[in-house]
Amino acid sequence: MGFKSQLLTAMALAAGLSLGAATNELTVQVNKPGAPVQPTMYGLFFEDINYAADGGLYAEMVKNRSFEFPQNLMGWVTFGNVSLKDDGPFDRNPHYVRLGAAGHGHKHTGLENEGFFGVTVKKGAKYRFSTWARTPGGGKAKLRVEIINPASSANSQVIASKEITVDSKDWKKYEVEITPDKSEKKGKLRIFLVKPDETVVDLEHVSMFPVDTYKGRENGMRKDLAQALADIHPGVFRFPGGCIVEGTDLATRYQWKNTVGPVENRPLNENRWHYTFTNRFYPDYYQTGGLGFYEYFLLSEDIGAEPLPILNVGLSCQYQNDKPSAHVPVDSLDEYIQDALDLIEFANGAVSTKWGGLRAEMGHPEPFNLKFIGIGNEQWGPEYVERLKPFVEAIRKAYPGIKIVGSSGPNSEGKDFDYLWPEMRRVKADLVDEHFYRNEKWFLSQGARYDSYDRKGPKVFAGEYACHGSKGKKYNHFNAALLEAAFMTGLERNADVVHMATYAPLFAHIEGWQWRPDMIWFDNDSSFRTASYYVQQLYAHNKGTNVLPLTMDKKAVTGAEGQNGLFASAVLDKERNEYIVKVANTSDESQELKINFAGLKKKDNVKKVVVQTLSSDDPLADNSLENPDRVKPVTKEFAMDERADWTTVLAPKTFAVYHFVK
Ligand code: AHR
Repeated sequence: MGFKSQLLTAMALAAGLSLGAATNELTVQVNKPGAPVQPTMYGLFFEDINYAADGGLYAEMVKNRSFEFPQNLMGWVTFGNVSLKDDGPFDRNPHYVRLGAAGHGHKHTGLENEGFFGVTVKKGAKYRFSTWARTPGGGKAKLRVEIINPASSANSQVIASKEITVDSKDWKKYEVEITPDKSEKKGKLRIFLVKPDETVVDLEHVSMFPVDTYKGRENGMRKDLAQALADIHPGVFRFPGGCIVEGTDLATRYQWKNTVGPVENRPLNENRWHYTFTNRFYPDYYQTGGLGFYEYFLLSEDIGAEPLPILNVGLSCQYQNDKPSAHVPVDSLDEYIQDALDLIEFANGAVSTKWGGLRAEMGHPEPFNLKFIGIGNEQWGPEYVERLKPFVEAIRKAYPGIKIVGSSGPNSEGKDFDYLWPEMRRVKADLVDEHFYRNEKWFLSQGARYDSYDRKGPKVFAGEYACHGSKGKKYNHFNAALLEAAFMTGLERNADVVHMATYAPLFAHIEGWQWRPDMIWFDNDSSFRTASYYVQQLYAHNKGTNVLPLTMDKKAVTGAEGQNGLFASAVLDKERNEYIVKVANTSDESQELKINFAGLKKKDNVKKVVVQTLSSDDPLADNSLENPDRVKPVTKEFAMDERADWTTVLAPKTFAVYHFVK
């Protein structure tokens, strides 16, 4: 039905005419609240893919700040007399640069950093530049720190400048605040010796952050991006991935212990997304660990989400390693298991313990109250199960209250999946992580996916999922989001068995992505939220407290044959005193809905209806930096006097959240 027939439908309704057979009668049993909706529902999956951490959420602006990239000066251009040294003050990051006299009073020695896709600054904003430095031979030397626009046609390239006097032959941290008088997207950071004489200066861990980070933290997060996370009201925050947990080989797996303690001494790690896809290849993509496990826990706390760390199970990426020798032998897992136990101590242990003490030293004496831990990312086969088992035993013994998340492999169904679910039951995992990046057809067919799951086994963590449009439509268009919304009615209806769900991936830098679609896109100074983001937000904000049975012709509304492309679910929100009904109309037709409230008592009469809809005139429309609000929820309010039903027309290809406020 096109616009004309929609109009006719609206006119018919306005004139009080019935649409006859077209009416979809949904019955919500309001006096039978079912399973509680878990507080962990609708969360976030974070992985450093698409420059999500370094160059993204982590607000550091200097690339290769510790000169530890394998090509030590990658990201830097040096001039004058600069040499590389490797006996610096931080044993796990030993490299630094030495700036010597350039040979003549008019020649300069220094270096420039290109930042991540440029050094981007805003006029009037404050930036905190810091560096560790010394004058190894004694004496004093002046450094000038500048933010420049190298391509400027103005008299001067310099848009901000400050000086630092290095005055000690011992390593010290120097800090200065810089405020540019112009905005610049593709700037550079330049540091050089002023009036070079014979005084030599050493520099290490050269860093610059905006002062205005999320919650004002020094080693902080980009404000707009962290705020976008908080605005979801996520129930759970999974980190640090994803495949980076596994590593291309064991040497490059994610090791949380390397990401805590002073940032200057967190060793660099490779990032597999640098080279995983040669058609989108990023040779300068590494992990500094600056956004490490302490920061992940803190962020989870800040945004009100349960932290869910995922650790390596002793397997490197199984896609990339088919030889058993690439993995840890089952009888040699001690170090890996100890890492898991130590992590729980780091998060929850008393300050008198080794790892709890480190947490306190880093600024958080109170425990982070960790409740969940994932062991293994997207693993499969007996090689996974035999490694997971000793982890489960050790964690259960030391920390019986911690819930353990196992994996069902990389696919939503099939051989590995069918093998792993019973195995997860056997090892008594508390939750099982399912991954499904699937096309439209799959999402349309999965409305009833969880209706038949075993209620007694482990719970479901839909840990990575997104609708990947087929036929050249693999990006964040509205239709993909609509189908995610439709599918999610099945997560909601099955609150007794689905305990966590996280769309993936979360972030993508417009100039540096490897994988799409993603939930939030950004460049260096702005970001936009996709239609999929709004779907997640609509669910997270309206998850309610208990499921309510919702049927059409006595059947769950799952997009099944004869259900007119409708998917629906309902919850009660005891705190807000609302019944919340979510309906996705995936069809091309308007659908008349009559929502009946069965079992409604007079005292529970609904006073008003607030309707939030997410729709688009073009199903393939997506948001962008230029047009961030093209697809966005719209809210309307209606009075509803003493009625036990509500009739409305749901436009084609629309997701609606109806709040019936008592
Ligand atoms: O989200 C991108 C990748 O997809 C994850 O790293 C991995 O777990 C999955 O294959």
